[in-house]
Amino acid sequence: MKIRPLWILALVVPASLIIHLQKSAQVFASDDDQTDTGREISIDCGVTEESQDSNGFHHEADDAEFVESGKIYNVSSDDIYANSQEQVWEQMKTVRSFPEGVRNCYTLKPKNGKCNNYLIRVYMSYGNYDHKNSIPYFHLHLGVNFWEKIKFQNVTDIRRKTVVQLSPTNYIDVCLINVGKGTPFISLLELWPLSNSIYRASSSLLPLGLMTCVNLGMSENLKFIRYAADIYGRSWLNGKIDNSKPIYTSEGINIDVKEYRLPSDVLKTAVRAQNVSSSLYINLTSINFTADNEHYIYLHFFDFEEHSNGEVRSMEITFTDTIREPVTLKHEDVRTLVKKIPKGVILNGISITSTPGSSLPPMINAYEIYRALPQPNTPTHEEDVDAMRNIKHAYNIMRISWQGDPCMPIDYRWAGVTCNYSERIPRVTSLNMSSSKLAGQIVTSFSNLMTLEALDLSNNQLTGEIPESLAELPNLKLLNLTGNNLTGSIPKALRDKSTTGLTLILDGNPGLCQTSSCKAITKKFIKPLVASVASVAVLTTIVYISLMLCRHKRKHHSDSKVMLVKKDDQIRLKNQGFSQAELHRITKDFETEIGEGGFGKVYLGRLKDVTQVAVKLLSKSSQQGFDEFQSEANLLSLIYHKNLVSLVGYCDDGDMRALIYEYMEKGNLRNLLSDNNPNVLKWNERLQIALDAACGLDYLHNGCKPPIIHRDLKSSNILLSENMQAKIADFGLSKAFANDTDSHISTRPVGTFGYLDPEFHRSGNLNKKSDVYSFGIILLELMTGQRAITGTSEGTRHISDWVNPKLEIGDIQAIVDPRLERKFSTASAWKLLEVAMSCIAPIAIQRPDISCVVIDLKQCLAMETSLESAESSSLISSTTLDSSYSQSGMSYSPPSAR
Ligand SMILES: *[C@@H]1O[C@H](CO)[C@@H](O)[C@H](O)[C@H]1NC(C)=O
Ligand SMILES: *[C@@H]1O[C@H](CO)[C@@H](O)[C@H](O)[C@H]1NC(C)=O
Ligand SMILES: *[C@@H]1O[C@H](CO)[C@@H](O)[C@H](O)[C@H]1NC(C)=O
Repeated sequence: MKIRPLWILALVVPASLIIHLQKSAQVFASDDDQTDTGREISIDCGVTEESQDSNGFHHEADDAEFVESGKIYNVSSDDIYANSQEQVWEQMKTVRSFPEGVRNCYTLKPKNGKCNNYLIRVYMSYGNYDHKNSIPYFHLHLGVNFWEKIKFQNVTDIRRKTVVQLSPTNYIDVCLINVGKGTPFISLLELWPLSNSIYRASSSLLPLGLMTCVNLGMSENLKFIRYAADIYGRSWLNGKIDNSKPIYTSEGINIDVKEYRLPSDVLKTAVRAQNVSSSLYINLTSINFTADNEHYIYLHFFDFEEHSNGEVRSMEITFTDTIREPVTLKHEDVRTLVKKIPKGVILNGISITSTPGSSLPPMINAYEIYRALPQPNTPTHEEDVDAMRNIKHAYNIMRISWQGDPCMPIDYRWAGVTCNYSERIPRVTSLNMSSSKLAGQIVTSFSNLMTLEALDLSNNQLTGEIPESLAELPNLKLLNLTGNNLTGSIPKALRDKSTTGLTLILDGNPGLCQTSSCKAITKKFIKPLVASVASVAVLTTIVYISLMLCRHKRKHHSDSKVMLVKKDDQIRLKNQGFSQAELHRITKDFETEIGEGGFGKVYLGRLKDVTQVAVKLLSKSSQQGFDEFQSEANLLSLIYHKNLVSLVGYCDDGDMRALIYEYMEKGNLRNLLSDNNPNVLKWNERLQIALDAACGLDYLHNGCKPPIIHRDLKSSNILLSENMQAKIADFGLSKAFANDTDSHISTRPVGTFGYLDPEFHRSGNLNKKSDVYSFGIILLELMTGQRAITGTSEGTRHISDWVNPKLEIGDIQAIVDPRLERKFSTASAWKLLEVAMSCIAPIAIQRPDISCVVIDLKQCLAMETSLESAESSSLISSTTLDSSYSQSGMSYSPPSAR
C-alpha cells in the first residue's frame, strides 16, 4: 500500500448560482485566520536573494527551490518602467529566461498543500533584456494543461495572467513553453491562498482564468485597488458605466466580508442608475468570450445607501434573453452573485434594471469575469511523480526535460522515461538512466515506480548492494545494472524473479558476488511481520500526511449571516405551502408508510402531475416553534444540489407540519447494504455512492454560507434514486449554523450512536469534522457491509473495532464485504480504507475536509473504472486519453437533470 494521491480533475461543486448574503455583523476586526494573511509566495524572477521592494513587500529568492533552469538578466535601461502605473514595475527590471528546452517550470509548494484553493499570477515584461529587440511569443501551462498565450504589444508592455485553482496536487507547476517564436521568460510569480469556497467552477475542478476584475464608482485619478488593500491579491481596475452615477460612502465599514474579502474601497464605491426607470449596462464587447469555454461572472453588491422605511432594492440582472437573475438588497447587505455562463453563449453585456414597483434605482459595486480552463490532460499518477522527483533529487539530476510532470503532456515527457497512457492516469513504465553519472546507492524510490517494466541504470558509478525491494515491482522485466560498482550479493528475491521472466544484467560490477553461494540472505522469515507492521505504519503515516496536507482552514465567527442558495433559473418553490387537505389527498390519507425518521413517519405521496414524493410528517413531539419551522422550511427549499434530497414543499397548517421531499425510489443505503437485499451492491456502485454522498456533504459544508452541519449523517440518511444516484437526506433539520465552530448554539441533541464524533463527548460541539467522522463510518459500512454498531453476546461492537485488527495484519480481503466475492481491485480498496480511516481519526483536526475526501474518492473510483476497462480490453481505444477529462466528470449529470 502506497501513498496514492492525486491526478484528479473533476470536482463537483456547488450550484451554478450562489448568492451569499451577509448581514451586518461586527467582525471585521477579529481577524485571526492564519491562512488569510495574504500573499504566501512572491518570486521576483532574476533576483537570487530574498528581497524587499520599495512598497515593503517581501520576495523570495529566485533559486533552485523553485526553478532549476534558465538564465537571469537585468533589463538594461532601469528607468523604462519608472512611469508605469504598475505596482510591480521594480520587479520587471529582472527576468529569468529559458533559452534551453521546450518546457521550463517553476514548482510552487504551498503550505496548505493539495485540495486547497490558490490564486496564482505571473507577470512578464520584455524590456529588451536580451538586447535583441525581438519580442517573443510563448505559452504558459498550469500543471499539465494549457493556461494562456503570452503576446506582448511592445517592449515595455507588462503582461499579467491570473488563475484560481483548487489544486489537485501538493506541487503547483507553472511552466513556460517555447513554441518556436522566441525565448520564454518571466518577471514575477505570485501565489495567494484563498478560501476554498470561492471562485470554484460549478461542475468540475476546472481552474478559472481571470479575464477582468473591475471596480465601479472610483475616483477618476485612481487606476487600481490592489495589494495590500486586497488581501486576496486581486487588482481592481477603475471601470466606468455610461449614464451611471458614482456613489460613495464615507462611513467605516464594519461588516463581515470574509468570503470574498472585498477590499473596503471596493465596497465603499459603487455606481447606480440616474433614476429608477433607467438601467445600468455593463458593456462586455471588449471581453474575449470564447464559445468553447464556460465563463463565470461574479457581481458584487454592497448596498450602503439609506433606504426609507426598510425598503428593499429589487433588481433584475439580464445576461442574455434567457439568462436572468433577480437580486434584492436590504440596507447594508453585501452579496456576490455568481453566474455560470454555459459554453456557446457569448455575452455582449449585462444589464441591471430595477424591478417594477421598486423605488430604488439599480446599483452595483464591482464585477469579475473568469474563463474555466479545460483540463484535457491528466497528470501522472502521484506515486510515480513523487518517486521520480525523489530520484531526481537523490542524484541531483539536471536534465532540461526533467521538469514539471514526468509523463504529461506527452510531447514534453522526461527524457529516458516511457509511460503507459492507456489508462486514465499515465504511469511510468520504463526508466533509462544509462550513462547518467549516477553515484551512490540505488535509492528505494525506484521500487516505488509500481508499474515499471524496464530499469536501465547501466554505466554509472552506483555503489552498495542491490535493493531487494526491486523484486517487488510486479511487472519488472528488465533490470540493467551493467557497468557500476555494486557490491554484496544478489538478493534472493531478484534471483528468483530472474528465473520467471526478469532479465537481470549485472556484468561489469567487479565487487558483486553473482553466485548463490554468497552469504545467505536470511531476511525472509521476518518479512511477513515487517510487512504487516510496515503496512500499519505506512497507513498511519499516510493518514497523518494526508491530514497535514488537507489541514482545513478555520472559519470565522460571523454573527448573523443568512444564506440563499438558488437553482439556475428561478427560486425554487417559492410558495410551495401545502394545506392539510392537500396533504391528505397527496398521500391518500397517509395510506403508505415508507419509513420512519428521527422526526416522524414518512409517507408516499403523489402530486397532481404524478410525481412521487415522500411526505415527512413531523411528529408532535419534534415540533419546533412556528417561526423556526417556517424559516427552516424556507431555507431548505432554497438549497439545491443533485446529491441532496430536495424539498418539494412543506405543510404548516393547523397542527400539521410536514416536509415534502422528492421520492427516492431505491430507498436508503442501510437497507441496500443489509443481508436482506438480494442484489448485492457492486464495488464500483459503492464507490460511486461514496462519491455522490461526499459531493452532497461538500456542498453543505463548502457551498453554503454559512456552512450547514448535518449532525446526523448515517447510512439510513443516504437515499438512492431510481438510477442509483445517492443523495443525502435530513440535512436541513439540523439547522444552519452561523459558523463551523459555533455549534454550541444547537438546541437539540442529535447524532446517532456509532456515528457520533468521539470528540463530541468531550467538547459537546458538533462541527464539520463531526460530519466527516460520520461519513468515515459510512465509508466503512460501504466497504465491509457491516453495521456501524453490531450487537454481540458481549454487548455492542463498533465497526472500527471490527476493522482495526484486520487492518493491523494488512488483511484487506477480510475487511471488504465477502458478498463481493473478491470482485474489486485491492488498490482501490486500500485507498478507500485510507480515506475512511483518515475521516474517523479520533482527533477532529486530524480529519480531512470533505472537499479533500471528494478528490480522493474520485481517484479511487478512477482506479476501479480503469481496471474494469483494462479487463474488457476490447473496449480500449486510443480515444481513452482524449476523453479522460470528461470521464473524470464521471456520472455527474448537469444540475438541471431533474
Ligand atoms: C431617467 O433618466 C434618463 C436618463 O438617464 C432620462 O432620460 C429620463 O427622463 C429619466 N426619467 C425620469 C423619470 O426622471
Ligand atoms: C537506454 O539508453 C541507451 C542509450 O542512451 C541505450 O543504449 C539503451 O539500450 C537504453 N536502454 C533501454 C532499456 O532502452
Ligand atoms: C545494458 O546496458 C548496456 C550498457 O548500456 C548495453 O550495452 C546493453 O545493450 C543493455 N542491455 C539491454 C538488454 O538493454
